[in-house]
Amino acid sequence: MAARKPLIAGNWKMFGRAADLGEIAALSEAIGPASGAIDVLICPPAPYIGAAAEQVRGMSILIGAQDCSAVGADSARTGEISAAMLADAGALCIIVGHSERRTLHGETSDLVRRKAEAALSAGVTPIVCVGETQAEREAGRVADIVGQQVRDSVPEQSANIVVAYEPVWAIGGTRTPTLPEIAEVHTLIRTVLAERFGDQANAVRILYGGSVGPKNAAEIFSVEGVDGALVGRASLKATDFAAIILAHPAAS
Ligand code: 13P
Repeated sequence: MAARKPLIAGNWKMFGRAADLGEIAALSEAIGPASGAIDVLICPPAPYIGAAAEQVRGMSILIGAQDCSAVGADSARTGEISAAMLADAGALCIIVGHSERRTLHGETSDLVRRKAEAALSAGVTPIVCVGETQAEREAGRVADIVGQQVRDSVPEQSANIVVAYEPVWAIGGTRTPTLPEIAEVHTLIRTVLAERFGDQANAVRILYGGSVGPKNAAEIFSVEGVDGALVGRASLKATDFAAIILAHPAAS
């Protein structure tokens, strides 16, 4: 089986303005040929996707979105943005089920799966996020929680997805799981994907996310089964994000 190409994705969340799109050109410059061996993706806020997609023309940086409507068909839904619209604007991937949406917007795994299905129907790769809270980890429920999230959030129809393991307690702070803990959850996720997709599960990239930065990226990338990262804060500045990308063994 061909090796999975690493994917390092930046989730800008609700940060940045049009002027910050200049970071993308700076990133391309800073990573140079590394972007040939690694898929580098930036997910800016929705209003900037079109401009970002224009900006990466001729670069090997990819543009994605952070969320989409679960409804595929054009319809009267004020404020919603469909996966087809995001694809039309230039998004190649859509993050779905990020813990900030699950927690702050009450999104269930069922809704997340429908969003992922909408992305697939629009020809876009969903990046399905899963991860346990601090309390769930302390209660020894990581495998239960993450396993169930994967079963319920991943569409049946296609293995053309990415999964991001983002422990909720590791996001936006300084703490991360230990390397063996990351390895354990990534193995669990692939096992659950294999129950669904058989051998095709081997092609699914599983990213780690939660406080990835220039200092810990190399050790996280060294973990068996980690196919890249989903990066929040450290993706906003080209210098930090480039340092993370260049820390991947495939960059050298
Ligand atoms: P931080 O990298 O800022 O911890 O955020 C991680 C994240 O939520 C990426 O989706």
